[in-house]
Order: sequence, then C-alpha cells, then structure tokens
Amino acid sequence: ASDGTDEAKRRAGESAAQQVESGMVVGLGTGSTAAHAIRALGEKVTAGMEIHGVPTSYQSRSLAREVGIPLCTLEEARPDIAIDGADQLRLDGALVKGGGAAHAREKIVDTSATRCLIVADDTKLTDTLDHPVPVELLPDAISTVERAIRKRDGDPTLRTARRKDGPVVTDNGNLVFDCAFGPIETPKSLATSLSAIPGIVEHGIFTDVATEIHIGSSDDVTIHSV
Ligand code: A5P
Repeated sequence: ASDGTDEAKRRAGESAAQQVESGMVVGLGTGSTAAHAIRALGEKVTAGMEIHGVPTSYQSRSLAREVGIPLCTLEEARPDIAIDGADQLRLDGALVKGGGAAHAREKIVDTSATRCLIVADDTKLTDTLDHPVPVELLPDAISTVERAIRKRDGDPTLRTARRKDGPVVTDNGNLVFDCAFGPIETPKSLATSLSAIPGIVEHGIFTDVATEIHIGSSDDVTIHSV
C-alpha cells in the first residue's frame, strides 16, 4: 500500500508510458499522475521514438511542449492510446474524474482512443464511488443546473480557486460544481441522468472508457484489464 505518494503515482505513470510504441498517437491526460507518463514519454522522444500527443488541457499541452512531444489534434488523428489519471476508481473501470476541471476534454480524448490506460496510486481504489462528482456547466445555467442536481439528491458546491477571488473557470470558459451524492451504487445510471441536464457540458463519471488500469504503490505496480 502507499499513502498516495508521488512515488506511487510515478510508478503508475511510467508503467502506462511503457505501452507506447513508435508511430502512435497518444492522448495526454491531466493531473500529477498523468504528468509522470508525459515526462516518461518525453524521455522516449528524446531517445528517438516518434509519437504525437493529443493534450486534454492547458496543463498537459504545456508539459508536453516542455518535454518535446510533438502535438496534434483530434481532427488530424485518432489516438491509439490515451493515458489519464482519475480521482477515484473501481477496478471494473468506473471512475470519477475532473479534480483538475479537465474532464470534458479528457472524456472526448479518452473515448476516442483505441485503448485508454488509467493511472493512479492505490489510495484512489474503492469498491463504491463516493467522491464528489465534478460537473462542468455553462455559466448561464448555474441556477437551473443547481436545481436539477438537488432534484437528483446531489449537493452542488461551486468550485472556487485558492489564488483567485471567485469561481474556477475551466479551459473551456465554463464553471464547475462539485456534487456530493454520497455512495454511488450505480454510476452508469447517475451518469445517464446527469448527461440529460441542459447546461451541463460534461460530468466526471466515466464508465466503459478505461481498458486498462495501472495502480502504483510505494514499491510496485499492478496492471488490471477492464
Ligand atoms: C483532471 O481533471 C482529473 O480528471 C485528473 O485526471 C485527476 O484529477 C487526477 O489527478 P492526480 O493524478 O493529480 O491525482
């Protein structure tokens, strides 16, 4: 077991990066664990491997540039592999994402990839998801989305930034609610229900997206097929 240390995240990220081969297009996830994969891929590029990355956020784009990974867009190529983090996950591949408010682009890139590798430290594994679900919404819909979440027995909190007065604004110019639902027994039905709310751009429940899960601990990494 680990205490969610950077070492455990690094093991998971590097394990997923090992799956990438020359010629591939790679979806580049967001967060500290995916960043380890991006750095490992940068080293492979420096050593001569030819890949293109499709970033999922401002953060992953700038890190990819820094470590020398050539970038492309989804219009240009479909990713062979996406490597992405998660905030909480079940081994059957049900995930909560969006801790970095990047889940809308992550869902687009991750679902378009042939394989989606989720990387996480072992503290994020659970049998029952109960992490607040990030919901990206159009600013004009703030009151109607709040009502719709409450109707579904969720408790939404507008995400605010630590070093800014006022709300977090996503890379897409939208707002984020973190919605506490308590234990989520059926992630798929909550996902479907949230997707039906007008004004919600995307929510952070991912089901049927991950094909492989790489779990790092302080001294090991295990790979689970979904
Ligand atoms: C970004 O919005 C999230 O979906 C991230 O993938 C998630 O927050 C994981 O971040 P860490 O790897 O830093 O925990």
